[in-house]
Amino acid sequence: MRKIGVVTSGGDAPGMNAAIRAVVRIAYSKKSQVLGFMKGWEGLITNTFTPLTPRSVGGILQLGGTILRTSRCPEFRKKEGIKKAAENLAANDIDGLVAIGGNGSFNGALELSKETDTLIVGIPATIDNDIFGTDETIGFDTAVNTAVTEIDKIRDTAISHERVFIVEVMGRKRGFLASTVGLTVGAEIILVPEVKYSKANIFKTQRENSAKGKKSGIIVAAEGIGDTHKLAREIEENTGAEVRLSILGYAQRGGNPTARSRLLASLFANKAVELVSEKHENKLVGLQKGEITSIELEKSCKTEKPLDLNLLKLANILAT
Ligand code: F6P
Repeated sequence: MRKIGVVTSGGDAPGMNAAIRAVVRIAYSKKSQVLGFMKGWEGLITNTFTPLTPRSVGGILQLGGTILRTSRCPEFRKKEGIKKAAENLAANDIDGLVAIGGNGSFNGALELSKETDTLIVGIPATIDNDIFGTDETIGFDTAVNTAVTEIDKIRDTAISHERVFIVEVMGRKRGFLASTVGLTVGAEIILVPEVKYSKANIFKTQRENSAKGKKSGIIVAAEGIGDTHKLAREIEENTGAEVRLSILGYAQRGGNPTARSRLLASLFANKAVELVSEKHENKLVGLQKGEITSIELEKSCKTEKPLDLNLLKLANILAT
């Protein structure tokens, strides 16, 4: 019987539970046993785990967060932490480790892979969707829908008060969330870290919008663009519009996963367990052009995922 470890690490993403459930049940169908390490990489360092069975992962498919808990783990950035984790994998006879998380988690996984004989396979799960090797990550669709639901409500009050709102969404240093959310809420302006913006242009667009009868507006800004408080003040001072800022924050990380996030979680888990069973190592599973695929973990860690600028161009045309 093979033994598979599973861990969720870094920022939680809706659909992580669906992925844990699928890993356990698919492993079970292949006669493998699963141990769940608790609180991200911390659980590997402290050797804190719980056996997972098809029954113990019942009723979690629809839940946000992660039953295994998660953490940012500074000890795992140090050699000693990684060594300890490798020792615990060996002590527990873990043949394969499925790591569910984002970029930081996979950089850690890559370092760990250099110290252990355990095969490591990554499943991309982050609301930021910023992982090279997959068109979409688990949790992204849910976060997009959460943000869209909130911004639709903000649109109501923006129209009623004839105000401009800057709505700040997450995404760390990248604009994947902001660009998809911006397009799908019909934002007048979308600001992402990948595209340098000029304040003068924002003021001009706002003045033009006002002149053509747009009395209210939504500016979707990625958190990575910088100080949105200051930007709101400056737009107000330079255009005469009444501007409010709404930071959506951590609500974007929670909530029940959408059907799409659950589907991706199940398909990714299926591929990950298949890779471990076939003894492939240091891979990251992903979705590429509609196919479930895998790439080298190292390649994913070392390559920056490009943002589709066409989405921004289209959003701009649609905001006329
Ligand atoms: O990576 C997911 C994410 O929510 C980012 O969008 C955000 O910048 C970051 O995590 C927040 O990190 P923390 O949970 O450590 O505050």
